[in-house]
Order: sequence, then structure tokens, then C-alpha cells
Amino acid sequence: MKRVSEKEKEIERSLMQLAQSTTVRPGRIKWLITNMKGCKTLYLIGILGTFIYNGMQLTVPYFSSRIIDDFLTGESAVNNMALHRDIFYALIAAMIGFTILRVLIVYFDCMIYEVVSQKVLYRVRNILYDKIQRQDMVFYNTYRTGDLMTRVTGDLDAVRHMLAWVIRMIFEAFSLVSATAIYYMYMNVKLALCILAVGPLLFGVIVLFNKKIAPMHALLREKLAEMNTVAQENISGNRVVKAFAREIYEIERFDECNKDYRDTNIKTANTWLDFYPYVEFTANLLRVILLLAGGLFLIKGELTMGEFVAFSGLTWAIANPMRQLGNIMNEFQRFAAASDKVMDIYYSKAHIRDKENAISNDSRLKGRVEFRDVSFQYEDGNLPVLKHISFTAEPGQTIAIMGETGCGKTSLIHLIPRFYEATGGEILIDGVNVEDYKLKYLRENIGLATQEVLLYSDSIDGNIAYGDSSIKREQVVRFARYASADDFIAKMPEGYETIVGERGVGLSGGQKQRISLARALAVRPSILILDDTTSAVDLETEKHIQQSLKELDFECTKIIIAQRISTTKEADQILIMQHGEITERGTHEELIKKGGYYADLVNLQMGGEAV
Ligand code: GTP
Ligand code: MG
Repeated sequence: MKRVSEKEKEIERSLMQLAQSTTVRPGRIKWLITNMKGCKTLYLIGILGTFIYNGMQLTVPYFSSRIIDDFLTGESAVNNMALHRDIFYALIAAMIGFTILRVLIVYFDCMIYEVVSQKVLYRVRNILYDKIQRQDMVFYNTYRTGDLMTRVTGDLDAVRHMLAWVIRMIFEAFSLVSATAIYYMYMNVKLALCILAVGPLLFGVIVLFNKKIAPMHALLREKLAEMNTVAQENISGNRVVKAFAREIYEIERFDECNKDYRDTNIKTANTWLDFYPYVEFTANLLRVILLLAGGLFLIKGELTMGEFVAFSGLTWAIANPMRQLGNIMNEFQRFAAASDKVMDIYYSKAHIRDKENAISNDSRLKGRVEFRDVSFQYEDGNLPVLKHISFTAEPGQTIAIMGETGCGKTSLIHLIPRFYEATGGEILIDGVNVEDYKLKYLRENIGLATQEVLLYSDSIDGNIAYGDSSIKREQVVRFARYASADDFIAKMPEGYETIVGERGVGLSGGQKQRISLARALAVRPSILILDDTTSAVDLETEKHIQQSLKELDFECTKIIIAQRISTTKEADQILIMQHGEITERGTHEELIKKGGYYADLVNLQMGGEAV
């Protein structure tokens, strides 16, 4: 059984503060920097390391140019070799020493980038998960699970890659090119300027490429999310696929998305190919300039042979970063598209959240529920779902809600724990508007068994104790008894330790409903809301549940949605809803006397025997 530890609670508290403090959405890089909390200095050391090891690349051409000029060519070469052989060896040793040192720096530098990027990834992933957890129903209706999964996996990895590789490559290119430029200038200003004249040409290529590639990456990211959504929906809804023998259709549908994603990937990769010839041309131009201008300066005696070799030996330090540009720009744009998606969630705020000074205390609510002229319409809907609903449930009373499918019953009860906000009127609990309570406090006082039962991949015990992980096994068993679930659980091979699969696979509909009822009762709520919770339970068991609900060892107001008269007839008040309005209300006897919808229902279900 999984129980929430103190440490987990502590993590929860700090994450909550964090999530609430993040409000204004900054630029992408600034956002990255804010998430480097605690490792900014280390990252700066990493960048410094990049500059150092790239600067050190110049040592090899420097030493080789000295060796060539002083010991291999030139008039005094033979003399120097005879008299200063020690310097010759020292230069070679320095060349090897610097190379080894450089390799070591590269090794530790890469490690720094990796560590920092993983730390940032960990932090952002936790914040994202935290944000997603705290969102309201509107958010879940808006975002598809596959898309959200893409954000916390693929998109987040693009963010990590930015820190671990792209930024390093940018600094590497920058430091290599600038160090080479400085060294070129130091050797021969004129030749350096001739070579660096290719700069503006290259800049033009970058600007054009960037313009073309940015939308491609945004599209690529959408295609990936689309493919993940199809896969996720199919895997979780596989039983429906099987029931309708639609495997081939679904495989083809996935194949379409997969192809689409592949083609977009190829198209994105090929975009660089359009620009590559220009880059390659510019890179080769470097060599031509060097040969022409360098040769000329050499003949004129303005350049030594050693310097010419050093110039030539370093052209790669300018040409290579140029060739890497496509890769870097690609990855940068991938980061841009992905980070936008990640930041959407990072900076999202639930519409339904605690007011300032919201009410919360240790005492239990009494459970008086009052709807005062409540109206409601879904944000994405264009018709009112609830119209002028008014009723009161006194503490301990049972209110039954009946009505044909789609009349608004579930929508009504979802307003009590503030899953949605009423668009008109007020919902009061113990005389206080639900909006004035802290959400946590309000929801802790409500036990809800939803219409669609969702159990976790956990033991039955863990599922029942989900709302209150502190309760002991005896209590879990007691609540299971109230819900008439103990019998079948005890018969299972591992009893309460039996692991139920995702969504409660391995249990019947009625068994799942009973576990869900036990879970709702286990929080000892002040208000118990049951949405069609016993619809799949046989009549005998249902009778037993009805009896147990009357004998609970704590007081609670019960709001029960049901279709069966047998479930509702003993309620203190029965509300009949039609098209979002309460059209009849009263006790079983009163409603039968009225001779309306309820009386018809009684006739239909009981053949008039209860009349
Ligand atoms: P049953 O559970 O079938 O008995 O129906 P119900 O009485 O619980 O109906 P519910 O409250 O679920 O729905 C009432 C109306 O709201 C229906 O017309 C639904 O189509 C609509 N509705 C439910 N959920 C949503 C939603 O998330 N968005 C929008 N726009 N409409 C919704
Ligand atoms: Mg419903």
C-alpha cells in the first residue's frame, strides 16, 4: 500500500509556493536562467571552460608555426636546431601537454553541461507536473492527454538539449571563431581582414534559413503531439477498438500520423540542404582567399611560411562552425517551438483557485448544502445547462436527484466541490459560499464517487485509502463493508493487497463502483455525493448499501443521483430535473401524489406496486 510520507508533503508545499510565485511569462532564455536556480555559477564555469578549451585549440598552430619558422625553415633553422634543441623539445612537449589538458577540460566541461541540464529538467518537470495536477476541469477539457504527455517528455527534452548541447555549441562556435580571428589579426591584419570578409555573406544565409526553419519546427512539434495523442487514446481505449474489431483501421490511422511525422521530419532536415551549398561555397571561399591573398603576402615577404601554415591550419576553426550552423539553428528552433509549449503549462493558472484569505480550519463542515438560484453554462458550450436551481440539504439529510440522461445532474453536483464555477446564483455550504473556502478544505469535506469510476494501478487497500492515507487496514475493511465490497474483496487471491490494473481492470462494473463508494466514504466526508454509484450493483446488494449508508458512524449529508426508485425512495427530498431545471420536488409519497414524471417512473419501474 502506498502512503504519502512527510517528505512528500514537504515537497508538495515547496512546489506549491513555487507554482504560485511564477506569474509573468518572460522570454525563453530568461525562463531557462530562472530555472537554473542553484546551478547558475556551475553553468557559467561550464561556459568559461568552453571558451578556454576552444582558445587552447590555437596552441597547436602557434607551436607548430614556431617549430616551422625557428627550427625547420628559415635561415637560422639549422643553427637553432643545433644550439637550442631544448627549446625545440619544449615546444613539442608543450604542444602535447596542452592537447592533453584540453581534452581533460572538454571532458569536465561536458559533464558540467549535462549535470546542469539534468537539474533544470528535473525542476521544470516537477513544476509542470505540479501545474497539471492543480488545473481545473476546463484545462483537462482543453488539452488532450497525448499533447500533455508530449510536453512533459519530448518538449522538455528539447529544453534539456538546449542547455546541454545547443548553448555549448553556440559558445564553442563563437569562441573558436573569435579566438581564431584574434590570432589571425595578431599574425597579419591584412590577411585576417580578407578572410573574415566572408562573415556578412554567412550572416545573410543564417537569417534566411532561420526564417524558413522556425515554422517547420513548430509544425514538427504539432505532428509529434498528434501522433502521441492517437497512440495514447488507442492504447487506453483498446477495449473499444477490439470490441468493434477496428485494429486494422487504428493501425492505418496511426500509420498516417507516423508517415506525416516522418515526412515533416525529412522536410525539416532537407531545408538545410537548400542552404548548404551556399555555406559550403563560403567555407571553400576561405581557402581560395587564403591561397590567393596569403600567397601574395608570402611572395611580398609580408607573411612568413610558419604564419601561412598557421593561417591555413586554422581555417577549419572558422569553416567547421559554419558547417555546424544548420545543426545549431535547427536545434535552436526545436527548442523555441518546444519551450513555448512547455511554458504554456509552466505559466498556466487554474481559473478556479483559492481566494485571498480563503477559509480553512481543522474542524469538519456540518454539511448544510444550499443552492440559491444557481445557473450554469460550460465555457465551451452555448446553452445553459442549469437554470435557476434552488434547494437545501440540511446536515445529515439525503437528497436524491433524478432525471433523464443529459438533464444536468452531474453538472449540478460538480459545482459543489467547485470543479466548475456557477455562472449565476450561489452555492453555500454551512451558509458560506463555496468560493470562499480553500479548495483543499472544501474538497476534503466532500466524498465523491464519480459516474465514471477510475481506480489507480494500486492495491485495493491503496485505492480505498486514496483520500486519507493515514487510515488503518481495519478501517479500510469497515468502509468496504459499508459499500458491500468486503465479501468480494476477501474472496480475491490476495484480498486487500490485490493489485487492480489501470482503470480497475480485473473488476466488474459493480465491483468497481463499490470500491469507489468505499473510497468516497473513507474520507468520512461531511457531504457524500454519489453519481449513479449503484447503477451496476444488483438490487440485493444495493439494499444492503442503502442500509449501511443509514448506519454510518459519522454524520454526513448525502446527495445521490440515481435512476432507480429503489435507491431514491427513502430520501428526505427527491428533486426531478428536466432540461436543467428542477420540475418536481418532494418526498416519495408527495411526488407520487403529484402524478408527474416521478409517478410515471414509479409506475414504470415498480408496476405501480408502491403507489
Ligand atoms: P447522465 O449522466 O447521462 O444521466 O446525464 P446528466 O444529467 O448527468 O448530464 P450532464 O450534467 O453530464 O450533462 C448535461 C448537459 O451538459 C448535456 O447536454 C451535456 O452535453 C453537457 N455537457 C456535459 N459536460 C460538458 C462539457 O464538459 N462541456 C460542454 N460544453 N457541455 C457539457
Ligand atoms: Mg451524469
